[in-house]
Amino acid sequence: MSLDSEVDKIVQEFHVSEEVLQKGVDRFIELAKSGLNSDEDKYGLPMIPTYVTSIPDGKEKGVLLAADLGGTNFRVCSVQLNGDHTFKLIQQKSHIPAELMSSTSDELFSYLASKVEVFLKTHHENSTETSNGKKFKLGFTFSFPVTQSALNAGTLLRWTKGFNIPDCVGKDVVKVFQSHLDALKVPVTVSALANDTVGTLLARSYTGSNKEGTTLVGCIFGTGTNGAYNEKLENIKKIPDDVREKLKAQGVTHMVVNTEWGSFDNQLKVLPNSKYDVQVDELTSNKGFHMFEKRVSGMFLGEILRHILVDLHSKGVMFTQYSGYESLPHRLRTPWDLDSEVLSLIEIDDSTKLQATELSLRQSLRLPTTVEERLAIQKLTRAVAKRSAYLAAIPIAALLHMTEAFKGHNIEVDVGADGSVVEFYPGFRTMMRDAIAQTQIGSQGERRLHVNIAKDGSSVGAALCALSEKD
Ligand code: BGC
Repeated sequence: MSLDSEVDKIVQEFHVSEEVLQKGVDRFIELAKSGLNSDEDKYGLPMIPTYVTSIPDGKEKGVLLAADLGGTNFRVCSVQLNGDHTFKLIQQKSHIPAELMSSTSDELFSYLASKVEVFLKTHHENSTETSNGKKFKLGFTFSFPVTQSALNAGTLLRWTKGFNIPDCVGKDVVKVFQSHLDALKVPVTVSALANDTVGTLLARSYTGSNKEGTTLVGCIFGTGTNGAYNEKLENIKKIPDDVREKLKAQGVTHMVVNTEWGSFDNQLKVLPNSKYDVQVDELTSNKGFHMFEKRVSGMFLGEILRHILVDLHSKGVMFTQYSGYESLPHRLRTPWDLDSEVLSLIEIDDSTKLQATELSLRQSLRLPTTVEERLAIQKLTRAVAKRSAYLAAIPIAALLHMTEAFKGHNIEVDVGADGSVVEFYPGFRTMMRDAIAQTQIGSQGERRLHVNIAKDGSSVGAALCALSEKD
């Protein structure tokens, strides 16, 4: 077969039809409901109760710390909430050294605690908290699946996004973090644990001016993907009866649920499953889990494309100057070396003979290409990205479908989003909206929807959670 026909075949395989979108929405709703009932199905949707029971209205005030471990970076911030929908944020960001991502929980958390210590020394040396023996409240954004039993307690279910620290699974990450902060005598109490999606939902509710409707969903499309929404307490059946009764007595009616939609359809009943998806899954430490994330989020898009390119080379239709796999440029053979940032450049390259793509592939993979190869790579890039954006529509449409607030006549709603893919990948949001219009929500529903970027959402949201924790 020729390069063109091989490429067309793959593009076709990556197309997500209206039928798949609609079946996806039905399946998501089915799995979400059973996830709210019980945790029996290990491969099901986790639907984790977060113990966040009130949504900010923008009037919150205070100075709080936030620490954010999400993917490749760790951020420590102090957040000043001004009580008028605005905030001021000071932050220090550090890259997580690769070896820490597969080390021990002590090694990881002592590193995190030392970064908090440095931050306080740099920015809050003379604060009253540090001088009068009081402690700062810190909201900890920990963006991995964690089963929470209270706002400030949660055990790690499993790692995602390339982290693999087995001894941490099953531990309460708040306790581990606190013990390392205490060991360094850092004057900080970890008073809330928040997933980044929960943070995004809260931050967007804090900053939103309500012109674009209530924020119903907070979501991340970055290294990983996930979403959170506010659910009626009585629908979260897996919360033990005595706990629910206690909450009800306090006047609580709703609780934010962290869906962990990265694990949507782990059984692959509706998600597409190309041979490249199978190959990528094989390379991960959470094999068989987070199958939705592995088709959608930034960490995986480049890796899927890399497998396609290696396959087309093995079929003798690309990079024919290299005979045999071993002779391909080293970086093209190295897992995770093709960054989704490169894909975003290729996606919109309209330079003559795709010269920008040529440069970018030379720089990132040391891979020389012909014009024909670049045209093919651009088509494939667009197919991989479009499939991701189309699949991204499924959980959003499903959650809106499940939420009563969306059912009101002509009500406009807001979805707060954060993460490199939704923020920077060219056309991602537009493609996602096209697909939402093809779901049960329809184009009328899609028009009532606003997808807004919640910049720094996860940190601001964690600070809001810490504020809500009573002393
Ligand atoms: C994690 C989620 C997180 C998402 C986005 C996923 O891999 O399981 O907890 O919210 O990434 O950061």
